Amino acid sequence: MRLDIVTIFPEYLEPLNVSLVGKARARGVLDVRVHDLRRWTHDRHNTVDDTPYGGGPGMVMKPEPWGEALDTILASDEDGREPVLVVPTPSGSPFTQRTAVELAAESWLVFTPARYEGIDRRVIEEYGERLRVRELSIGDYVLAGGEAPVLVMVEAVARLLPGVLGNAESHRDDSFAPGAMASLLEGPVYTKPPLWRGRGIPEVLLSGHHGRIARWRRDQAFRRTARYRPDLVERCDPAALGAQDREL
Ligand code: ADE
Repeated sequence: MRLDIVTIFPEYLEPLNVSLVGKARARGVLDVRVHDLRRWTHDRHNTVDDTPYGGGPGMVMKPEPWGEALDTILASDEDGREPVLVVPTPSGSPFTQRTAVELAAESWLVFTPARYEGIDRRVIEEYGERLRVRELSIGDYVLAGGEAPVLVMVEAVARLLPGVLGNAESHRDDSFAPGAMASLLEGPVYTKPPLWRGRGIPEVLLSGHHGRIARWRRDQAFRRTARYRPDLVERCDPAALGAQDREL
């Protein structure tokens, strides 16, 4: 998968050299290219923003550098891929695990993290006529820019790519994963030693009885979800839960 990220803070994306994403890059699963938007400015001050039409606070990112940047990047395709333009914005639709799964099926994502009050709308309109555009918010809060959301989205997508996680099973039971846990939050996990500061391990986990363990895990997931995310319990598909019971 190829990822292009256009930003005025390329150094903000350095965490993409580390850990899971860094290893995926090193192994050639991910081809990440970070671009400095200011490369596509032509004035002495490398200006990327200007005052908003209609007045109001803050600055708006000028369309010309984005247009030149995106034209250059889109023309650099080597493999006939069809990119998705990912625009992080608090005004977008929610980025969820489902979105991550959808994006993980793509071969090329181009991210446009903005600063200030956002990018001149005409840029989104222009590329919306040629490409698939996803305007995505990572949550109901406003960050200072789209770089942190890009880090979030890239990590969520990268770990779904074949061969990136050590154990192919390990995202099957993720909180929010479609399937086995039917959008419940994950319950508690334990490892060795069996006794730590007088605290033991739930007996069932030592039983070796896979059916009982699976039922216990789902019960724990249910309790946790009811406590922290009652909205998810309400949305839960009873048919899916019933099917799991038959599986166990
Ligand atoms: N830019 C600023 N805040 C954001 C958010 N919550 N999601 C995506 N992009 C953003």
